[in-house]
Order: sequence, then structure tokens, then C-alpha cells
Amino acid sequence: MTASRPDGVDPAPNPHATAEQVAAAMEDTKLAQVLYHDWEAETYDDKWSISYDERCIEYAKGRFVAAAGEQNLPYERALELGCGTGFFLLNLMQGGVAKSGSVTDLSPGMVKVALRNAEHLGLDVDGRVADAETIPYEDDTFDLVVGHAVLHHIPDVEQSLREVLRVLKPGGRFVFAGEPSTVGNFYARWLGRITWEATTTITKLPFLSDWRRPQTELDESSRAAALEAVVDLHTFDPSDLEKIARSAGAVNVKASSEEFAAALLGWPVRTFEAAVPPEKLGWNWAKFAFGGWKSLSWVDENVLKHVVPRSFFYNVMITGVKPGK
Ligand SMILES: C[S@@+](CC[C@H](N)C(=O)[O-])C[C@H]1O[C@@H](n2cnc3c(N)ncnc32)[C@H](O)[C@@H]1O
Repeated sequence: MTASRPDGVDPAPNPHATAEQVAAAMEDTKLAQVLYHDWEAETYDDKWSISYDERCIEYAKGRFVAAAGEQNLPYERALELGCGTGFFLLNLMQGGVAKSGSVTDLSPGMVKVALRNAEHLGLDVDGRVADAETIPYEDDTFDLVVGHAVLHHIPDVEQSLREVLRVLKPGGRFVFAGEPSTVGNFYARWLGRITWEATTTITKLPFLSDWRRPQTELDESSRAAALEAVVDLHTFDPSDLEKIARSAGAVNVKASSEEFAAALLGWPVRTFEAAVPPEKLGWNWAKFAFGGWKSLSWVDENVLKHVVPRSFFYNVMITGVKPGK
């Protein structure tokens, strides 16, 4: 069964920020998070090719297992921080990682979409708007806390991990994946910028005009993209992240990293997908994007991992356990 917050007081989504609101958000990272993620909530799954089928179940579970292994599955009750549209926890639940879940996010628009997705999937999920630095749940509530691509948005990561440990039951585990490494973030941004400029310039040619998104959409994208610098607060070195987690009080802490060649393909592909009308990209494109990512991930795992420094890999993951069991 899917339920929304019982007291019904979550703020409403605000998907169309005005120029004044964007200006105010430049000085306020949490307001920026809400505006930016409310803006992209309804189109987020398309933008990032997120689905709730075998492809993304395999991806989400693969990241979880790479970070934490397969022991103790399924967890009874899981919490997701910065759930977005529910990509990580909903797919983990479908993959047998947890039986029931709570999805939370600072952005009301994201919580709304995540709950809608959970309802369509028939999953046992509730949700609420919540800041990862002050998690609105009782101590010792969850068996598992997860997050994907969220830690780098949180001003005080150690404070958030202290909160994670507080709401975990003793012996409970956290798994965060999809965090940008410092080197990875550098090449991803450049590749994204070049792809966006090239695509939005070349589609000005008259014979490519049906590959161009309407100018109002491109302008809105550029306005929101200006907020990216305000919402993306950190990049991580795996060893530094381990230190933060230990300092928050976690034990059995382990960070790892993955995706180098796969990320060099993935960033231009995703930026291109965001720059052209979605109906232009069909099933063959999706097959190319996912097949390419899978093949290059194999190369990363079996070849490049042995010769390329781990700090060059794009995705950083971290797991740890709450002591006391
Ligand atoms: C890059 S998105 C990732 C969404 C989703 N986990 C995924 O992987 O598709 C980051 C999410 O974190 C949320 N977020 C940012 N700061 C937050 C905070 N302090 N507390 C909770 N959520 C936050 C944003 O609203 C956004 O939905």
C-alpha cells in the first residue's frame, strides 16, 4: 500500500521558479535544491533514462551489492534520503533488497513523483519531505538507509551521516552510491558542457530544426542549469569519505569507486538526451546507450581497474554499519 504523509503538511511542489526566486536561491543552497529539483521532478526519469524494469533493477542492485555484498537480504524496513523519483530504493525493493520503505527528499516535487512511481509498482512505500541533515524519524527505526547521488548535495555530510546512524537500528547498514569523484566530476562537466553547446548549436541549422527543443524549454534549462553550481556542493575522494563516515560513528566502513570508460560515454549521452526532443530518441538509441554503458563497465571492471588510479573512476560508493549489536 502506498500512503502519503498522514498529517498532509508537506509543502506543495514549485516546478516553475521565477527569475527572482532563482536569484534568491543563488545565496541559499537549500532553496536552490528545492527549486532545481522541483523544476526537474516531472521530467527527471526521462532525462536520466530511469525506469523501473529489469534494466534499472539490475543497475541499482548491482551498485548496492558492489558496495555492501548480498548478505542479510532482504532488509525489513529501509529509508531513502534524497530519493528523487525513487530510482534507487524502488528498484532495490523490486530486486529483493528491502521489504518496505520510506522515501524522503528536500524537494516536494520529487517526493510526489517517487510516491506515484511506488504506487504504480504496488510497493509498500510511504514518503515525506525531509532534510537529510535533520531526518524526521525516531531513533533506531530502520534496518537499512540508502541514497544515490545525494551526499554531494548536503552541506554537512558528517552531520547527515550522524543522523543516518541515529535512525538506524543497532547493526543496521547504510549504502550511498553514485557520488561524484573529484577527478570524475571534472571530466564529466567538460564533456557535458561541450555536448550541450554542440547539440544546441548544430540544431539551429534549418534541416535539423525538428531536433531542436523549443527555445522556451532551452532557456528554462539554462536558467536551472545556473543553479547546478549552487546545488552541487562536494566531490569525493573515497578515502576522505571513509574518514567522514568513521568520524560520524560508523563501523565496518568501506568506500569504493567504479566507472571510468563508462562515464566518458555516459555523460555526453545523457547531455545529448536532455538537449533534444525526447520523441526523437527511440528504442535503438536506448539500446545503444545502455549496451555501450554495459560493455564499457565490463572494460572498467576487468581491465581499467587494474591500471587506472581509483580516484579517476566517476562513481564513489560508501557503506558502513551502526555499532552496538
Ligand atoms: C541528483 S538527485 C538524485 C535523486 C535520486 N536519488 C536518483 O539517484 O535518481 C539528488 C536529490 O537529493 C535531494 N536533496 C538535495 N539536498 C538534500 C537534503 N539536504 N536533504 C534531502 N534531500 C536532498 C534533491 O532534492 C534531489 O532530489
